Amino acid sequence: MPNETPRSARGDILDLERVRADFPILRERARGKRLAYLDNAATTQKPEAVLQALDDYYRRKNANVHRAAHELAERATAAYEGARDTIARYFGAEREQVVFTRGTTEGINLVAWSFLRPRLNPGDEILLTTMEHHSNIVPWQLAASEKGAKVVAAPVTDAGELDWKEWRARLSSRTKMIALGHVSNSLGTINPVEDVIAEARRRGIPVLIDGAQATAHLVVDFNALGADFYAVSAHKAYGPTGFGALLGKREHLEAMPPHLGGGDMIRTVSFEGSTWNDVPYKFEAGTPDMSGAVGFAAALHYIESLGRAAIATHEHGLLEYGTERLARIEGLRLVGTARHKGAILSFVMDRAHPQDIGSVLDMEGVAIRAGHHCTMPLMQRFGLSGTARASLAVYNGRDDIEQFVTALHKVVKLFS
Ligand SMILES: Cc1ncc(COP(=O)(O)O)c(C=O)c1O
Repeated sequence: MPNETPRSARGDILDLERVRADFPILRERARGKRLAYLDNAATTQKPEAVLQALDDYYRRKNANVHRAAHELAERATAAYEGARDTIARYFGAEREQVVFTRGTTEGINLVAWSFLRPRLNPGDEILLTTMEHHSNIVPWQLAASEKGAKVVAAPVTDAGELDWKEWRARLSSRTKMIALGHVSNSLGTINPVEDVIAEARRRGIPVLIDGAQATAHLVVDFNALGADFYAVSAHKAYGPTGFGALLGKREHLEAMPPHLGGGDMIRTVSFEGSTWNDVPYKFEAGTPDMSGAVGFAAALHYIESLGRAAIATHEHGLLEYGTERLARIEGLRLVGTARHKGAILSFVMDRAHPQDIGSVLDMEGVAIRAGHHCTMPLMQRFGLSGTARASLAVYNGRDDIEQFVTALHKVVKLFS
């Protein structure tokens, strides 16, 4: 099946073969077959530009950052802080609003611990949705349980969309925080975050958006969006693992106490007490992950070099194609059919368990994910123990979908 050259509304062109050539791992074979990597919501593969940036950092720039007294430390600091500028620009934020973290999980925990916990009183509520990743549930539960507050979740419709009426019905004077995913990792649903933020602002309730699944696929302009916090992970956007950023409103970051103590986050230390560094450094205790920052910045440059409109057009076309192809497979049911959807195909099959589907596909070189996808409450909502999930990225093409569909026909045959 030939891969069509996608064209965006702006006329941007994505040359799929060239994109693929940028990702060395795609030349690997899996179980002796051509690799069709469709597990991008779990983690994306890394382009040469990111691999080279990591390599170059350690070969030419590595030293500890800040307070540089020698050239290598200057280079490392310039690379690290230059990465912060790139990341800030990509997300439409000021550099002081970018706190480096280990990823989305740490960003949400930081907000739950430092921002929300001191404001919570018994009886207060944190409003989530049923489709949240465990990372956007458990940190709030930890803060709530300590203060006698509770987590409340708004339901999703059968299509996997946020039930807006029910969400609004759960807002009250008790609501002290709203948190939701920009894009659901299990369903692909793109949530109406602009509407959520507008409603929250009318009521003066802070909002955190979990942007783990949005970074590589949607344009995020943090300050224009108006959320209070936005958490992201580099590895879901072609960057290195174990690195991410929390974007926050400056006044919140200034007011929040640090969550970790140590080097670099202080201005002064004495045994009588310590004072804190400026934001964002107040939240970056210890030697940071310099190569992570450099790798993330390289990944964002890479995304921009392809053109975000071209990527979106490509992935949307592939999603439509995949949806159509899956609809024709006997006994297969898509889970998550929202009108606004990212490139995620979650599904169940009549006779085969998701793990069995995953195993059969693996033998055909097709990498998908099977299970609850860290969204147990959502699985419960749909009466499922899990789904099989194919998630697409910029380097996927119709040939990957065809390999996937052919392997699914094997599943049908094996389990009929
Ligand atoms: C929607 C969503 N939120 C949060 C996370 C957690 O991201 P990380 O493990 O990079 O912290 C994930 C990861 O799968 C996710 O998909």
